[in-house]
This record gives sequence, C-alpha cells and structure tokens, in this order.
Amino acid sequence: MTMPLWNPAEILAATGARPVGQPGPATGVSIDTRTLLPGDLFFAIKGDVHDGHDFVRQALAKGAAAAVVAEDRLGEFAKAGPLLAVPDVLEALHRLGIAARRRSQAKAIAVTGSVGKTGTKEALRLALQRLGRTHAAVASYNNHWGVPLTLARLPQDAAYGIFEIGMNHPGEIEPLTRMVRPHVAIITTVEPVHIEFFRSILGIADAKGEIFYGLEPGGVAILNRDNPYFERVKAHALASAAGRILTFGEHEGADVRAERIVLRPDLSIVEARVLGEPLVYRVGSPGRHVALNSLSVLAAVKAVGGDVALAALALGDVTPPPGRGERTVLQVAGGTFLLIDEAFNANPASMRAALANLGLTEPGPRGRRIAVLGDMLELGADGPALHRALAEAVENAGADLVFAAGPLMAHLIEALPPERRGGYAETAAELEETVLRSVRAGDVVMVKGSKGILVSRIVKALKERYGEAAGRAAKA
Ligand SMILES: Nc1ncnc2c1ncn2[C@@H]1O[C@H](COP(=O)(O)OP(=O)(O)O)[C@@H](O)[C@H]1O
Ligand SMILES: [Mg+2]
Repeated sequence: MTMPLWNPAEILAATGARPVGQPGPATGVSIDTRTLLPGDLFFAIKGDVHDGHDFVRQALAKGAAAAVVAEDRLGEFAKAGPLLAVPDVLEALHRLGIAARRRSQAKAIAVTGSVGKTGTKEALRLALQRLGRTHAAVASYNNHWGVPLTLARLPQDAAYGIFEIGMNHPGEIEPLTRMVRPHVAIITTVEPVHIEFFRSILGIADAKGEIFYGLEPGGVAILNRDNPYFERVKAHALASAAGRILTFGEHEGADVRAERIVLRPDLSIVEARVLGEPLVYRVGSPGRHVALNSLSVLAAVKAVGGDVALAALALGDVTPPPGRGERTVLQVAGGTFLLIDEAFNANPASMRAALANLGLTEPGPRGRRIAVLGDMLELGADGPALHRALAEAVENAGADLVFAAGPLMAHLIEALPPERRGGYAETAAELEETVLRSVRAGDVVMVKGSKGILVSRIVKALKERYGEAAGRAAKA
C-alpha cells in the first residue's frame, strides 16, 4: 500500500477542522470533482463560476476521503459522508499547504515571469526528475488556490518541489511566495502582460520581484540578464534574503550563458557556458525563447547542487503542449499541411515568439506560411499600437498571409501590405470558415490569440474538417 499523503490526525492539526463522521487517510488533494480520485481530500472552494459546496455530494460519492466544507454550509450535507468543517475553506487549504512545506525536506523552486512560467516549470520537472522524486504544479495552477493546492499535494518524500506563481495585479505574488518559501526563485522575463492593471512596465518588474521576498535565507535568485528590466528586478533580489544571484541569457555577463543557439523548426541546439563550464545540449521544443528559458532551468539545477549535464540531457524531451506550439499534420486535398496550435493565450511577447517560430518552419512545395491571429487583450490604451507593431514581426517571419479576428487586430490588418491580408472578421466564429476554405497542401498554419478571443475554435474546426494524417510524426 502506498503511504497516504495525509492521515486524519495531520489534516486536523494543520487545518483546525472539526470532523463530522470518520474521515479516512487522504492519498491526494482535490478541488474539482471532474478530476477527483478515490481517496482524495476534497476542498469545497468557491471559484469565479462554481462553488465547490455544490459538488460535495458528488465528491463523496466518487470516494473522497472527506470533504472540507464551510461551517455555515454543514447542514446541507447530512449523511453525505465524512466532513471536515472549517470557518473558511480556502484558508484551510492554505494551512494544509503550509504544513506540507513545513514537513518537507524538498528543495522548493518557485517560477514566475510575464511569459514562460509553465514551459519553464515543465522543463524543470523533466530535468529534476532525473535527479530525484519531483513534484510540480498541474497545468498553470499558479494563483491563490493553485499554489496552496500544489503545496498540499507535495509528497513527504519528494526531493524537489516546483511551484508556478502568477499574478495579474501588484501584491499577489508576495503572499504566495511566503507560503512556498522557495530555496530558488526564477523570474523568466518581464514583459507588458496584463499591463492595463499597472501604471508602467516597471510596476510589472516590481510585482515579479516580490517572488524573492519569500526566499529562504541564503536562497538563490535567478534572473534574466538579457531583459531590459534586469537592474530593476535585481534590486529586489538584493533587498531580499537571497544569498546568491545567478543570471541567465545571451549577455556576456550571464552566469549561465548561451554562446550560440542553433534554431531548427522542431528543436534547438544550445552551446552554453554554465558558470564557465561548456555544455552543449538539445531542447526538444523550437524557438529562441524556449532555449533561453532552458538556461534558467540549468541555473536552478546548479542552485540546488544537481548534476547539470544529466539535467541538460532531459531537456531534449521537452515538447510543446497543446495551445502552446503543439504541431499536428492534417490532411487536405493533394497532401498535408502543418497546424501549429498556439491558441491557448497571447500577449505581445508570446505573439512575437510564435511568429518567429512560424518563420523557422519551411512550408512544403507551393505551401504558404499562414498566421491566424486573434486580439491580444488586457493591454489598455496601448492595445492598438501594440497590434499595429506586429506588422514587423509578421514581415520578419516571412508570413505570406494573415487572417485576423477581433477589433484590435483590425489595426494590424491595416498596417499590412494588401497582399498579406488573408481575411478579417470581428470574431473568431465569423473568421472560421474563411480560414478553413483557404488552407491547402504544403501550408504551415499558426493560430494564436488571447483566450477570450476564442481562436482555439479555429484550431478545433481545422482538426475536425481535416483529419490527422496517419503515420506522420507530429513534428513535421
Ligand atoms: N521567454 C519568452 N519570451 C517570449 N515568449 C515566451 C517566452 N517563454 C514562453 N513564451 C511563449 O509564451 C506563451 C506562454 O508560455 P507559458 O510557458 O505557458 O507561459 P506562462 O505560464 O507564463 O503563461 C507560449 O506561447 C510560449 O511559447
Ligand atoms: Mg502558466
């Protein structure tokens, strides 16, 4: 039998909950009945849309060890199963997370940044797995419930714990990093993302810098040496309890430095120096930005005293996830075309990175490079200008045609030469059919936009209309 993650006495001690019935030992922690496994401890968290209390009966029917519920809702769950009553369910999850961290011997690594958090977290997971038992956040679980949930799931015997920490507003990172108490904290980069909630990009740098204030005394701060806001972020590292600063990037002064990056359509080869030691390795997902993020992974491995060469070997296994560059070969009359799915989300930095990757990819004979783009949201008053400015990235990528959806994207379409304009519509739904009818054999089609613009429906429609080509590697 596997050791439980939490036994009932530990749960009660950590959360201060009042048991009703007989809670069993918990083998996991869940806040979502769709993914709940028998033996999970279910926390009835109130989200933006759902209230977990509406799913308590379902959770217990699915075999939850117990459900943590608000005292004032207790009356609704008579005879449903074992319950743990608390004044505030989210607060109880926080407490369990803090208890998990307290009992753990793991090296904790926290990752934040305007883009590249999840990609870096996944690359770190691959790298550290080679060195010891590694626990990491699911998906992008990086907010006020995602971080404590990831902490509460930390197995007692893990050697490494990786925590993604995100924010939309100033002040959100600090309480989360104080909960994680990382030994190592990474800021991938600072870019104008969610800028409408900030007075300036310096405000974003300061908000990212909050991550260092949770560092364990003597911990390691890892900074992007190439970023224009390096000095601003470094000031926060210096003001924190960090004992050491490690920098990464192409800059001459970077501690973990890429001397050369060979960009190929499906992977990159990096010639690096890690604190002076030469190291050549492959990164299994294309793009300069991914290669640069990988330097921060090596810096973190160095920071925890791991074998950097062994960790670097694992980076060859990195693959782009759905919505973040996943590649699929689809069938169309006369042959196949390549779909690059970047539809999960978009901001100016990730949009440029995705266009650059489109540029790396060679279309087949008579094929074209096609960008299907949706609005980048949350840019405030700078929105129109930031969309217009993409024209240069479109040109540099050698894109032949741009299809665009959303009011802001109209500014980009206007800035493009007429022969590049594939089609425009106010919404992704209205653009969909135009895109579907336009693709042909040999094309490379990259789809990207902010979540709210729903260009993901175009990815789905392309996949439905044009089936996946059998026997072809996804990396065309
Ligand atoms: N350093 C970077 N610079 C520019 N774009 C990046 C960088 N790192 C990742 N991206 C792009 O940003 C998008 C989001 O990446 P992800 O790792 O999911 O970031 P996050 O978790 O911060 O949202 C992807 O399209 C990815 O290719
Ligand atoms: Mg993320």
